[in-house]
Amino acid sequence: MSKPRVLSGVQPTGALHLGNWLGAIRNWVELQDSHDTFFCVVDLHAITVPHDPARLAEDTLSTAALYLACGIDPARSTVFVQSQVSAHSELAWLLNCVTPLNWLERMIQFKEKAIKQGDQVSMGLLDYPVLMAADILLYDADRVPVGEDQKQHLELARDIAQQRINARFGPKGADGEPEAILKVPEPLILKEGARVMSLTDGSSKMSKSDPNEGSRITLLDPPELITKKIKRAKTDPTMGLEFGNPERPEADNLLGLYAILSGRGREAAASECAAMGWGQFKPLLAEATVEALRPVQERYRELRQDPGAVETVLRQGRLRADQVAHATLQRVREALGFLVIPA
Ligand code: TRP
Repeated sequence: MSKPRVLSGVQPTGALHLGNWLGAIRNWVELQDSHDTFFCVVDLHAITVPHDPARLAEDTLSTAALYLACGIDPARSTVFVQSQVSAHSELAWLLNCVTPLNWLERMIQFKEKAIKQGDQVSMGLLDYPVLMAADILLYDADRVPVGEDQKQHLELARDIAQQRINARFGPKGADGEPEAILKVPEPLILKEGARVMSLTDGSSKMSKSDPNEGSRITLLDPPELITKKIKRAKTDPTMGLEFGNPERPEADNLLGLYAILSGRGREAAASECAAMGWGQFKPLLAEATVEALRPVQERYRELRQDPGAVETVLRQGRLRADQVAHATLQRVREALGFLVIPA
């Protein structure tokens, strides 16, 4: 039996932060033994909001390098860049033509981002979830690791595959039911679903788009900067760190970070810090963070110093990704009735 397949991706917009690592990439690493894993850098998604062309290529490369530095192993995973596999754009178009507009207009993330951008909203931003559906469906992914904020997008991918492609275009099988053209993916809910919150507001998610850089720790922040950001992180007047007090989101978030980054786990961290003041806790958290990131940063530096190392991985990944994606695209093209001219 072949292993179930997993696909996921992160946008190459600015440096990856603790939220990306603890909430996503760290879990990908563990999936590599039990799953056939595909990880892409979703650069086509990165241009759905205004972007800087002078940075796109470098951000794409550094994001891929960080995947590797975090433990994604090219011998076990297919690591590639979304825009280098043209089937993503092509399938997105085919799916566009069968996806009702109102399915997209009601997407929460679209509405939130659109509000921020006023009348500058692009078609691409509205279409973002269809491109994401193409990413997933091209690889016949069995499972997609998703956080809370991406569940609605995965649900859309499932609906498109099931209701809009399979039900309508699947050739009738012996029992009269349509056969599947696209695999309908399941969400993969991860244990200890680490949701990392902002350092400056414990009730909003750590985000690349927060204009305040002090709100996040990026994976490449040097030790002094990490220490400084943690020193300035928002606190409250109460003594002692604790989990789950709705009045104290900062305590919950920072204690949660300490539990993971120190490797102690939640119970031990909670009892260790139960009577600790913030002034004693923060240096501990800073040290745990610096130490946890040290091997990632070292590996990243090595990779970037070796000219062509990351490109070689991405070239290999593109080959395999392209094969799988191309076969799926062919199936959809045929099901939709496009002319096929044998080579
Ligand atoms: N929308 C995802 C995010 O912001 C990124 C993404 C694009 C993705 N395509 C994907 C995630 C396919 C999983 C699978 O996190």
